[in-house]
Amino acid sequence: MAKKIKFFLKNSKIWRSLKVRLFIIMCLIGMLPAVLMRAGILENYESRAVDVRVSDVQTQLRIIANHLITYNYLQDTSSEVIGAELEQLSNLYNGRVLIINGNLKVVKDTYGISEGKTIISEEVIRCMKGRGNGTVNYDAVNRFIEITIPIVETVTLPQPAEDGSTTKEVVRGVMLNSVSTDSIVNTLDILNRKAMIMESIMLICIFAFSLTLVQVLVRPFERVTKAINEMKEGYRDEPISVPDYLETEHIVEAFNSLLERMKTLDDSRQEFVANVSHELKTPITSVKVLADSLLAQPDAPAELYREFMADIAAEIEREDKIINDLLALVKQDKSVAEMNISVVNLNTLTEIILKRLRPIARKKNIEITMISKRQVTAEVDEVKMSLILTNLVENAIKYNREQGKVEVSLDADHQFFTVQVKDTGIGIPEENLNQIYERFFRVDKSHSKEIGGTGLGLAITRSAVLLHRGSIKAESKEGEGTTFTVKIPLSRTLVQV
Ligand SMILES: Nc1ncnc2c1ncn2[C@@H]1O[C@H](COP(=O)(O)OP(=O)(O)OP(=O)(O)O)[C@@H](O)[C@H]1O
Ligand SMILES: [Mg+2]
Repeated sequence: MAKKIKFFLKNSKIWRSLKVRLFIIMCLIGMLPAVLMRAGILENYESRAVDVRVSDVQTQLRIIANHLITYNYLQDTSSEVIGAELEQLSNLYNGRVLIINGNLKVVKDTYGISEGKTIISEEVIRCMKGRGNGTVNYDAVNRFIEITIPIVETVTLPQPAEDGSTTKEVVRGVMLNSVSTDSIVNTLDILNRKAMIMESIMLICIFAFSLTLVQVLVRPFERVTKAINEMKEGYRDEPISVPDYLETEHIVEAFNSLLERMKTLDDSRQEFVANVSHELKTPITSVKVLADSLLAQPDAPAELYREFMADIAAEIEREDKIINDLLALVKQDKSVAEMNISVVNLNTLTEIILKRLRPIARKKNIEITMISKRQVTAEVDEVKMSLILTNLVENAIKYNREQGKVEVSLDADHQFFTVQVKDTGIGIPEENLNQIYERFFRVDKSHSKEIGGTGLGLAITRSAVLLHRGSIKAESKEGEGTTFTVKIPLSRTLVQV
C-alpha cells in the first residue's frame, strides 16, 4: 500500500501542475515566517525569564547572606529574623534554601530534610573556594535553577597587606538555592498554545488566499487552451487573443502565426490542385475538339486527317510532359532520403547537357558557350543536378531572341560551387522575379502555347537546389537578358549553413 502511494506521488501528473506548485510555494512562503517567529520568540522568552529570575533570586540571597554574617547565623541558627527571611524567599520562588558552613555541613534547610548532613557538590565546593559571585545552573529538563552564593565576611587585617588593603574577604559558607521554573514553563506553554492557534488561523487564511490567487493566476493559461481547443473543433476561425500576460501573449502569437502558415499552405495546396486540373484538362479538351471536328466530316481528305492527327499528337505530348513534370515535383517533395549522392564531375556533366541542348538552340541560331573557371567535383545527386542545369539552359534558350547568346559558367571556392546561366533574352519583369519559382507560374500566359511551357520547370529546379542545401537567385533586365545563379555546397557533410 505504502509502495503504491509512493509510486502514485512519484508518477502523478499532479506535481507537474503549475497550479499545485504555485499553491505549495505560496503556502510555504506564507507559513514559514510565522513558524520561525514563534520558535524564535518563545526561545527568547524562556532565556530572558530565566535570567530575570536568577538575578532576582541572587539579589535576595546576597541580602540574606549579609544578614547571616551580621547575626552570626552559621554558628547560631536561632535567629527568627533570618528564619522568616528564608521562609519568605522559599515561598516566593517556590524553592529550597540550604545554608552550608565552612565545613560543608548543612546548618539550615528550609525543607528541614538535610540539616546536619554534609554536602559535597561540585558547585558548593567551587563557590566555597572561589572569590566569585557563585554559580548558576539551569536544568531545563527537570525545570529548576540551582544558584549558589558565597557567604562572605569582611575582616579587618591586624596590619595592612602588601597591596595596602586593610580588610580581607573571607568565605564563611555557601547558600544553595534551587528555584522551580514551573511558572516560566507554564507561561511558555500558554504562549505556545496561543501562538499555535494564531498559526492555525493564519494557515487557513493563507490556504484560502493561495487557492484563490492560484486560480486567478493560472486562468489565462486555461483560456489559451480553451481557445485552441475551440479552434481545433472548428467553433471559431479568427486569431486567438489572450493579452493578460506577456507569456500568454507570446504563446498565442506563436500559435496564430503557425495557424497563418498552415492556412497559407492550405491555400497554396488548393491552388496547386486547381492549377493541375486545369493544366491537365487543356490538352484533353483540344484533343477532343480536334477529334470531334474530324468525326463531324465523314469524307474529310486524308491531308486534313494527317494535319489534325499531328495536332492531336502534339497535345498528347504536352499532356505527357506535364504529367512527367508533376511526378518529378511530387517525388522531390517527399524527402531528402531519396537523394542519390555521388561524386560528380560538374564540368563533364554540364558539357553533356549542353551538347544535348545545342540542336534546339541551333533552330533559333542561338550560340551556347561554356566557361569552366576550374575543375569542379562535388557530392551531388547526378539526376537532380542534370534537371537543374537542363531546366535553366532550356529556359535561357526558350526565352531568348533569334541569334541570341547563352553563357554557362562554372566556378567554385573551398565550400561552394556556382553555376551561372546567362542569356540575352526577353528578361523577366522586376515584379515577377519572386514568382517565377511558383508552380505553373508563367510571365506571359498568352504566349505559353506557342513557346510550350507549363511553368513547372523552375519549381522543380528550385526544389532540387534546396534538396542540395543550395540557393538559387535570378537577376534580370527586361529586353536585355536574365542571369540565374545556383550556389551549392561541394560536400554534404562539410557545410551546415
Ligand atoms: N531565362 C528566362 N528569361 C525570361 N523569362 C524566363 C526565363 N526563365 C524563366 N522565365 C519565366 O519564368 C516562367 C517560369 O519558368 P519555368 O521554367 O518554371 O516554366 P516554363 O519554362 O514556362 O515551363 P516548363 O515547365 O516547360 O519549364 C516562364 O514561363 C517565363 O515566363
Ligand atoms: Mg522552363
